[in-house]
Amino acid sequence: MDRLLPPGIVQATEKLLVASGAVGARALRWSRSKRMVSVYEAFDWMLPGQFEAFAQRKAFCERQAREGIGNNASQIIVLGAGYDTMGWRLAPEFPGVNFFEIDHPATARFKERGIEAMGQRGNLILIAEDLGERKLEDILKTNELWDQTARTVIVAEGLVMYLPPEAVGDLFCQCAVIAGDGSRIAFSYIPSGADGRPDVGRWTGLMLWLQKVLGEPWIWSIRPEELGLFLKKTGWTNTPALAGTTLKHGVEFYAVATK
Ligand SMILES: C[S@@+](CC[C@H](N)C(=O)[O-])C[C@H]1O[C@@H](n2cnc3c(N)ncnc32)[C@H](O)[C@@H]1O
Repeated sequence: MDRLLPPGIVQATEKLLVASGAVGARALRWSRSKRMVSVYEAFDWMLPGQFEAFAQRKAFCERQAREGIGNNASQIIVLGAGYDTMGWRLAPEFPGVNFFEIDHPATARFKERGIEAMGQRGNLILIAEDLGERKLEDILKTNELWDQTARTVIVAEGLVMYLPPEAVGDLFCQCAVIAGDGSRIAFSYIPSGADGRPDVGRWTGLMLWLQKVLGEPWIWSIRPEELGLFLKKTGWTNTPALAGTTLKHGVEFYAVATK
């Protein structure tokens, strides 16, 4: 993973998890133990390649943010940011760019505490909102730092599979409204199988059940060949040329669309 992960991400994430109170220092040490490595290996056996894919996903999103900034984007927004540290790490490097994050209040509250302890950034704005409850457009309308006409990079990493289908379509439509021309949206998604359900291979049934039991069911998926039309209907143009050479890592697909 060291080969793939952006520099500093491991240290920053460890700091954030402990400082936010999400994970204790002991649990963090335990997560590196041989026993836990076997658990990750077992996980990889159920979802082939997915463990390394988490690193690929992080690298993909950061590449999109950096490329977008290189292409004159002046704001970045990470939807369903969780304990992602990209904004915190990149904010000092790009003082002219505003970094926004939105997450469900249940997670955002912990993260806010962690970021406070690690040192706030003047150009990192954390927003605690349930995207299923309030429209992105309405959330950002009241934020005076948000510029609806600015070239923007929107990142939705590991998010859309948890939202109902109507909410996903609506979210992409709203993303097209809140960002200026030349913006891009980078996201990961789970492909649909022949039965229309998320398809993660041989252990799909078990994984769908596990996610449900864990309280985070996978709801939305799409066939990769249908993505272009879906994006077009929501105001975006599928732009695989920007996504890189490999569009699938582990069980997830990666995509980039432009406006
Ligand atoms: C699997 S995590 C991914 C976190 C991060 N994007 C990453 O890949 O490291 C999914 C995230 O989406 C957030 N999320 C799920 N449903 C949401 C909603 N309705 N509104 C806001 N955030 C939501 C969760 O709180 C969680 O942080």
